[in-house]
Amino acid sequence: MSIQTPKIEKKVTVKTLQKLKGKEPITMVTAYDALFAQLFDGEVEMILVGDSLNMSFFGKEDTLSATMDQMIYHTQAVCNGATLPLIVFDMPFGTYTNKEQALANAVRVYRETNAQAIKIEGGREKEEIVRHLTQNGIAVITHIGLKPQSVRAEGGYYIQGKSEEEILSLLEDARVLQEAGAFAMLLEGMKSEAATRITQALAIPTIGIGAGVGTDGQVLVWSDMFGFFEAFKPKFVKEYGDGAALIRKGLQQYRDEVKAREFPDDNYAY
Ligand code: KIV
Repeated sequence: MSIQTPKIEKKVTVKTLQKLKGKEPITMVTAYDALFAQLFDGEVEMILVGDSLNMSFFGKEDTLSATMDQMIYHTQAVCNGATLPLIVFDMPFGTYTNKEQALANAVRVYRETNAQAIKIEGGREKEEIVRHLTQNGIAVITHIGLKPQSVRAEGGYYIQGKSEEEILSLLEDARVLQEAGAFAMLLEGMKSEAATRITQALAIPTIGIGAGVGTDGQVLVWSDMFGFFEAFKPKFVKEYGDGAALIRKGLQQYRDEVKAREFPDDNYAY
């Protein structure tokens, strides 16, 4: 049984996260709107406005068609709802293909939202882009391992770091991206051994999803962890609530009561 940890009371910054490395695991969830961001405020150190919203909230099969306009709108909403967590903007597919484009889009994020950092997917091939962004005042989280934006190119979602050769390649990606200026790294869908070795090799914090317990922090997609997203359930998702069942039960009761003219009774009428 885990102990009850205190709520987070101070604004989380890049510095806060750096200080947590090696001391206390970092918690992060996704959020897509003000209503839920408000509920998450003070409960976790970081919020990611993930392009996963294109699947869970827009109903698409993958994240690839998410746009800057869409992500900006959702990030503005999240920033309206939460003030304490460090809010991260997930750069959509095709918006950081070269350093000039990446910077122009990241500057737009900083101008139009209160997000404190951006996240980009990719390994050492993104070195120049990460360097350019960080040299121009953008806080960057890189995302290595299983990269959802590569799903069409790779023909599916595959667990990474299965051989020593793959682990060494991931370690090289991590080292290069840290050196280019990334302040944190998201490790997705990889063998626990790979994520633990990357975490030990880096001075910056790592946040894992489907990467085992050896990272500096964890992230989950909120609609997965509360049982709302039913299309598929990856092995790494632990459900902390059955949101879909709660909603269906409530709607069943509402329908029954309306049809029976039991709702609204005098308590709910003027
Ligand atoms: O878009 C997203 O929600 C993500 C998760 C994998 C963390 O990038």
